[in-house]
Amino acid sequence: MTVKKRVGILISGRGSNMVSLIEAARAPDYPAEIACVISNRPEAQGLKRAQAAGVPAVGIDHTAFDTREAFEAALDAELSRFGVELVACAGFMRVMSAAFVERWHDRMINIHPSLLPAFKGLDTHARALQAGAKLAGCTVHVVRAAVDDGPIIAQAAVPVLPSDTPERLADRVLAAEHQLYPHALRLFLQGHGGSAAAKREATQVPVNQEKALFWPPLE
Ligand code: GRF
Repeated sequence: MTVKKRVGILISGRGSNMVSLIEAARAPDYPAEIACVISNRPEAQGLKRAQAAGVPAVGIDHTAFDTREAFEAALDAELSRFGVELVACAGFMRVMSAAFVERWHDRMINIHPSLLPAFKGLDTHARALQAGAKLAGCTVHVVRAAVDDGPIIAQAAVPVLPSDTPERLADRVLAAEHQLYPHALRLFLQGHGGSAAAKREATQVPVNQEKALFWPPLE
């Protein structure tokens, strides 16, 4: 029988990546169960979606706390109450203190809608278009103190089309995110992600080494 790690998901908004993790975790052989969903915005749509899926959902309004540390102490208390062993950030829009990140060192992961380390931070899609990037994508990584930084677990690339606006590109990347996050969480829990061992593992997968992805495609 698969031993399931207890995962807590942190969100701030609509929670579509959260839904993809909840759905993946329903499979008996998936190595995670979703113990709770916590939002720093109590009105977040994602909290209602979590409840509808039968997952405990908690709002902790960060504006009710005087300091970042006080908010994070409340967050930690909830994560402990639900027995969370690993934190998955999915559109969680609060910068975390170095102390909080350290407490969850190698036990907290995040999804970012770019091919890191390119285009960290906000407005990633607009900046990718502005730069003339031909491939965009998304990354799941282990969280470190710097924003959108840390060992990469998995990435997915999508082509940038001439007709793209930031919104159109975001939609295509988001569809890839929904596939990537459950895949990356599984890899991470199986010990394949974000480490030197993972890199060795990856090179053992049979691939056609000459087959690079070109975009626009080669003639
Ligand atoms: C996603 O694009 C995620 O990569 C980014 O914020 C967005 C959250 O969307 N960090 P959702 O709340 O999962 O729908």
